[in-house]
Amino acid sequence: LELQPLNTMAIPALARYGVKVHSLDELGAALSWRREKQLEDDVDIPLLVIGGGSNIILRGDFPGLLVQVDLQGKEEIKETAEHIWLKVGAGENWHSLVEYSLSFHYWGLENLALIPGCVGAAPIQNIGAYGVELKDVFAELTAVDIQSGVEVVFEREACEFGYRDSVFKQRLKDRYIITSVTLKLSKNPTQYIEYPALASALSDCENITPEAVFEAVCRVRRSKLPDPALTPNTGSFFKNPIVDSTTYQRLHNEYANMPAYVVDQQTVKLAAGWLIDKAGWRGKELEGIVVHKDQALVLTNPKRLPGSAVLAAAEQIASDVKAKFGVQLEMEPRVYGNA
Ligand code: EPU
Repeated sequence: LELQPLNTMAIPALARYGVKVHSLDELGAALSWRREKQLEDDVDIPLLVIGGGSNIILRGDFPGLLVQVDLQGKEEIKETAEHIWLKVGAGENWHSLVEYSLSFHYWGLENLALIPGCVGAAPIQNIGAYGVELKDVFAELTAVDIQSGVEVVFEREACEFGYRDSVFKQRLKDRYIITSVTLKLSKNPTQYIEYPALASALSDCENITPEAVFEAVCRVRRSKLPDPALTPNTGSFFKNPIVDSTTYQRLHNEYANMPAYVVDQQTVKLAAGWLIDKAGWRGKELEGIVVHKDQALVLTNPKRLPGSAVLAAAEQIASDVKAKFGVQLEMEPRVYGNA
């Protein structure tokens, strides 16, 4: 099965087996097929679950089973005077959900407009943009245990959300397949507009409604981030590094205008895009991989090269940033496949 059309970095690679599931029954059947085949052939069949394919790098061919989760559906499961609980299938497109929620005047997702990918992927890395993270609107999710095939519920605490992080990237990595996400949205407009790039995009706006915030987020994103349909990319390629205050002070003394966000008393989050930019990489090309000209945090793959080219460029950039600033960058997308 050719994976190139299924990942937004357009990396060419093959999966040994592949299935698209449209229901929990089909998902259950795919998982039992895998368990039986493993027993029969006495081999391990690795599993790759893809939603929108917007946060993965395929290092080579994938020797196992690809599961495309196409679980659809949106259901209002609970309502109070102030909130609505919307249960959404993991395969729904994230941005379409944002538009849907706004059309019903359910607020809270405006800042998360235009994030590529599917609803089921959103909790894994706790997607976030312009000051809002998924965890701020998250109620619970359902997920199927890959080993037993049983569906369980994870409440907010159990997901252990952090910056671009959750239990599904850590302790429970590759143990569950997310099948639905329930969001708690507000019936009263509640805007968060403090994020600098958003605040300046709204500076001429007299009546700041959630729709205006949504439009502004779309404008800012379109102006900085390449459309993966035209220029293959996975959004931010690195996480913004969180450093201790001593490291921050050292850098701040040298680069007074370096952007930074205080996380807590001991730690500060730096802008990886700024570090890469200042290391001279913005707009540059490295063996076919191009650092986006308007946002150095985004690597693009216009020639649709293999994952090895992407990873080599990433390594070079990270090592230059490390040499110049003494800060280690960590990749954001997950890497799969043979070495
Ligand atoms: N900057 C530069 N040069 C660059 C890029 C950025 O100087 O080439 C500076 C900007 O001027 C700004 C600062 O760095 O002062 C931060 O840039 P920006 O506001 O664009 O945000 P970011 O920190 O680079 C993060 C998220 C994005 C999210 C934006 C807005 C991560 C890894 N990335 O980027 O998320 O859209 O904030 O909230 O946290 C994604 O995860 O795929 C993604 C696009």
